Amino acid sequence: MDNKYSFEEIVSHLKTSGFVYQGSEIYGGLSNSWDFGILGSFLKKNIKDLWWKKFIETSPYNVGIDSALLMNTKTWEASGHLKGFADSMVDCKECKSRFRADQLIEQATGLSAEGKTSEEMDKMIEDNNVVCPNCGKHNFTNARPFNLMFKTYIGTLEDAKSVVYLRPETAQGIFVNFANVARTSRKKLPFGIGQIGKSFRNEITPGNFIFRVREFEQMELEFFCKPGTDLDWYKYWVDYCYDFVKKLGINEEKLRIRPHSKEELAFYSKGTSDIEYAFPFTDWGEVWGIADRTDYDLKKHSDYSGKELSYLDPETNEKYIPYCVEPSVGVERLFLMICCDAYDKEKIGDNDERIVMHMHPAVAPVKACICPLSKKLSEPATALFNDLCKKFHCEYDEAGSIGKRYRRNDAIGTPFCITYDFDSLEDQCVTLRDRDTMEQKRLPISEVKDYIKKALEF
Ligand code: GAP
Repeated sequence: MDNKYSFEEIVSHLKTSGFVYQGSEIYGGLSNSWDFGILGSFLKKNIKDLWWKKFIETSPYNVGIDSALLMNTKTWEASGHLKGFADSMVDCKECKSRFRADQLIEQATGLSAEGKTSEEMDKMIEDNNVVCPNCGKHNFTNARPFNLMFKTYIGTLEDAKSVVYLRPETAQGIFVNFANVARTSRKKLPFGIGQIGKSFRNEITPGNFIFRVREFEQMELEFFCKPGTDLDWYKYWVDYCYDFVKKLGINEEKLRIRPHSKEELAFYSKGTSDIEYAFPFTDWGEVWGIADRTDYDLKKHSDYSGKELSYLDPETNEKYIPYCVEPSVGVERLFLMICCDAYDKEKIGDNDERIVMHMHPAVAPVKACICPLSKKLSEPATALFNDLCKKFHCEYDEAGSIGKRYRRNDAIGTPFCITYDFDSLEDQCVTLRDRDTMEQKRLPISEVKDYIKKALEF
């Protein structure tokens, strides 16, 4: 897909304007780690707040939890992560570069190696004479699995008994709490349990800025339902998630829902679809995964823990292990999609240009910037700022020409600039300037809050 702007240009803008900083920068950084800056932390929080509102707070079905990041190691035995959460990697014996075997094969041949064993991937590398993208040689080690979980120790002894793992997904914290939630919420099926939290994966090839990182945040919902109703719910949640992305104002030409092929599907899944976005660095990149996981997870945890994790239907007296549909999304992926989609450069007049981030006002880091026309108006303009701040995150800017202040705010996605001028003292009105249309309208100060509130509706 044609991209108007290069990924490098967008990333550079995000770094220089305060959305994202290099992690541990003053020490030379830590590879592929990023800190969210003065604007990025707001954007991230706004994304999480919207998800929580739409998936938990206003949902008739769902409840939320916040489970521990470190879990009993048996969790990862039961979920299959200890054995199977691995990517195959190969090393180039010539230049020592390391690759994920499936990515190496796919990039060189266009063939998918998804779900192939290490041995099958070795054969594909041989048969297709795949060469190292770094040095051009064909001399690789055999592919070998590399577990993506970060290992650490709990307590003072660093022995086998004290090994714990940083969770690679938030989902398992939900499955192990299924019975607790069912009991304390007194919810009847169907119901969902959602949470937002950090996950860690020791990715072999992190990259593309914050697209694939080793530390990220997930927003996951595990939606439990009666077996047989799962495919309807699967469709419901695919549509619901797509609608969420669409409401963010993302260009639909750059969005698609991709159902997984049979070969790609996990053996226990009855259906999985990804919502993908055409990022500037790739054709399509996964943003959101929605999977019908059947009763796989609850069954496994029931087997490994010896605890009953079935549901007694109060109406029919039937007892069964619920099926589960899981919509799972990374905050960083939504963040990056929003920013790539919002970034724009527009000509203004004959020789001026502006960078503007056309993001939905609900996620914009700053909702309004109060700009007094003159420093002599600081006092009443500050009073307006203080008042609006109680409701929205606002900024106050009295430095430079009004045009420059508009540009600064366009570049960070602020939906409104509010100019307080000398007439404001008399008529108690201000000028609201719209980021996208650049239109200005005069509005009574008493109506400003409602006007902004309306624009933030999602
Ligand atoms: N519980 C299911 C699960 O974790 P996943 O496809 O591995 O499924 C779900 O991850 C979502 O988490 C992805 O669609 C993506 O948005 C995000 N994600 C996964 N790995 C990531 C990484 N290394 N960096 C950033 N986001 C990631």
